[in-house]
Amino acid sequence: MRMKNTCFIPTILLGLSTLFLAANPALSQSAPTEGISKIHEITSTWDDGAAIAPSALLATNFGLLRALPSGVSTRISGLEAVVTALASLPGEPQKLLLSGYSKDKTALGVMKSEDGGKTWQDFSLQTTNGAEPVALRSLAISSVDPNFVVGIMDGLELSRDGGKTWQASGKLPEKTFKIAPSSLDTNTIFAATMTGLKKTTDLGATWSDAYPSTEPTTVVSVLGNGRVLAFVFGTGLVAANESDLKWQTLSANFESRYLLNIDANPNDANQLIATADTGAILISSDGGDSWTSFEGSDNASLASLARGKQIFEGTCQACHGTNGIGEDPGNPSARDEFGFKAPALNNDTHAWHHSDAAIKMTVQNGSSRNSRMVAFKDTFSDQDINSVIAYIKTFWTLNSLACQGGRHGGCLGK
Ligand code: HEC
Repeated sequence: MRMKNTCFIPTILLGLSTLFLAANPALSQSAPTEGISKIHEITSTWDDGAAIAPSALLATNFGLLRALPSGVSTRISGLEAVVTALASLPGEPQKLLLSGYSKDKTALGVMKSEDGGKTWQDFSLQTTNGAEPVALRSLAISSVDPNFVVGIMDGLELSRDGGKTWQASGKLPEKTFKIAPSSLDTNTIFAATMTGLKKTTDLGATWSDAYPSTEPTTVVSVLGNGRVLAFVFGTGLVAANESDLKWQTLSANFESRYLLNIDANPNDANQLIATADTGAILISSDGGDSWTSFEGSDNASLASLARGKQIFEGTCQACHGTNGIGEDPGNPSARDEFGFKAPALNNDTHAWHHSDAAIKMTVQNGSSRNSRMVAFKDTFSDQDINSVIAYIKTFWTLNSLACQGGRHGGCLGK
């Protein structure tokens, strides 16, 4: 806890904003994404023609939110519900299905939107046998036949009419986290489970191993191009073509973090968006080989990173050290006559405990604790400050990116 006092103000700010969303979900229209305690499912929405600035729809306990790279999530519909399941139609991201519970805890069945989530209609209030409406905790739509929809409730639930009527079918392996229908037919389903990745070819009557490991597999996603992606704990993100299931490991550098949701840009399967166990959103633009944080991703273009490096080396490095190692790297609690010396901004100390917004405030306004950290808002434009923050974040590991800001508390020691 050597640098404790430099953390103080941002922590208080985050605490308040988190509380606001939690205490008053009906009133708050937007809040920091890092304040959202649980993201159940996501869909990617690259529908604004903004290739480097995707957004994500989040199924949360506070309804449906749209997350932007600014670190802010905004409510996109008046729907007040605990949304536990969300899926978009393959190739038609404006068409969505969700499931969950209403505020009084009654099952929602399945609801449908045709306008990207702004308005919702009841779609399925009954199962085929006349039983109670479903409250699914995961939903996925087949890319072979959009009428074939799979869901998880107590067991495997299937719909053959686009999500209108549901039938419990077969069984699921114990502790199944996510399921994904095949890209080849409507009999095969993959399941990410506590004991590995499983596959059924008979709609859940029997299951077999689809990956040679029984380590927990936290998510599986089958893309429209036939690529199966799965996150295997201890191994990382693995991928194979569904036709031969020859697996390769795409990225192994998640340290102790793991992914819980993966979705692809409907127009470009190389652009992926995922959530980590911490709730952080991560993105990849190379099909899953490398990942970075979604927060600030709109500032991480090659040109902007080059500009950030130029500013860092020209202005910040004199105090914060080469590659952000700090002014007195061997002694992070070192002081000068004004206060703490310039801290490391690389992965070593706690720079990543601050959100982009908190770091931006310090760079814009300076620090009241040490007058040597002056305000840079009159020296550099808003865009320049965003660029230098994007550059500083290239010093951080994926683990730190997934633990950035208000989430870091839950990551310490894990
Ligand atoms: C003249 C020395 C100096 C220069 C130049 C300087 N800083 Fe600082 N910076 C400091 C000091 C000293 C602190 C510690 C202030 C404190 O204790 O709150 C600091 C703190 C910070 C912090 C807060 C870190 C944390 O973990 O709480 C950030 C972020 C930061 N500086 C970014 C920058 C950036 C970006 C630049 C270049 C645009 C820059 N600094 C230039 C001296 C400097």
